Amino acid sequence: WFDQARFIPPDAIFALTAQYVADKSPKKVNLGQGTYRDEHGNPWVLPSVRESRKLLAQELNHEYLPIVGLADFRTEAAKLALGSELFQKQQDRLATCQSLSGTGALHLAGLLLRACKTPLPKVYIPEPTWSNHHQVFSSLGFQCESFRYYDPETKDLDIDSYYSALKSAEPDSVFIIHACAHNPTGCDPSKEQWQELARLFKERQLFPLFDAAYLGFNSGNVDNDAFAIRLFIEEMSLEAGVCLSFAKNMGLYGERVGCFLLATSTEEAAVKTQSMLEMLQRSEVSNPPAYGAKIASTILADATLRGAWHDDLVTMSSRIRSMRTELHESLVASGAPGTWDHLIRQSGMFGFLGLSPNVVLKLREKYHIYMADNSRISIAGLNRQNVEYVGQSITDCLKQ
Ligand code: LMR
Repeated sequence: WFDQARFIPPDAIFALTAQYVADKSPKKVNLGQGTYRDEHGNPWVLPSVRESRKLLAQELNHEYLPIVGLADFRTEAAKLALGSELFQKQQDRLATCQSLSGTGALHLAGLLLRACKTPLPKVYIPEPTWSNHHQVFSSLGFQCESFRYYDPETKDLDIDSYYSALKSAEPDSVFIIHACAHNPTGCDPSKEQWQELARLFKERQLFPLFDAAYLGFNSGNVDNDAFAIRLFIEEMSLEAGVCLSFAKNMGLYGERVGCFLLATSTEEAAVKTQSMLEMLQRSEVSNPPAYGAKIASTILADATLRGAWHDDLVTMSSRIRSMRTELHESLVASGAPGTWDHLIRQSGMFGFLGLSPNVVLKLREKYHIYMADNSRISIAGLNRQNVEYVGQSITDCLKQ
């Protein structure tokens, strides 16, 4: 049966992590996969998560969740993304479904769009983007189109190309939007540019599908990071999908905590799409995992824990910002050829260095510094012990 099966190369980011783990050098630095690390390079269990786990331990059971997930979690997740005011206004026109983190939310969104829309819409994806976007949508049969998002010359967002893509796309096309902290470039539109983008979505009748994996993690403030989502749904009255992940902002990577939100324009559409999400989820995973959603929901629903979580967001985002600055200083001080201001202009978990594949490979093989092939670094992998080494090594490689 399987002679015709294709061989698919391993996922580049997960393969890179495995390579790093196998490296025996004491100098090794992991700047690959986007996972937060504390100042000693260790995984960080958020204090708010520890507290939530303690509360849960008192009455934890292992019953099934409902098919669409934990009701309180879905409500809290929607309130978080939309803000309380917009949630109140929108709640009767909202369908929500707990998902296997952000990837599961994107997949559910794809299943729903495929089931609702004939002919199948095209899915427009920024170039570059998170390495899994194309795979999620092409594996569901969508035709994926790339549009240029980033200008390697200016090392900045190419907003004109973004506008042109919206102007030339067929009506009813789907656009994947990074809600904030664009992965991998760290370049987001300004508030004025978001306004113009939202206007174009409306004018051209396009469907915005937000990948929101970094709410609160980006700036330390959820309201700032959810600006675009709220603008599109509230001010522009657009129908929109929002794929939420709690991997980064709660450090719940392996628990797979996410939620798909669909803002529709009528109550009837919300009821129908909610029922479809329930059917689609049942046929895929039956019902979602409980533990992580209980942790997240306990934090979001409790004022004290939520305050502690906001402190955790500030801890993570501030450490990342200070590491950006320190790497920048180290590159400049060691005389790295070129300009490095883009590193400071970017925001979120990643730095997009703009190094050639040769340099990336040399850093990996000679210096034991691991980063994605496109020279994206997970800034959280930097700390006071290794940042100088990384800066100096990049400089050495570029000067050779
Ligand atoms: C990343 O971009 O490194 C993370 O989002 C991890 C992943 O699943 O790719």
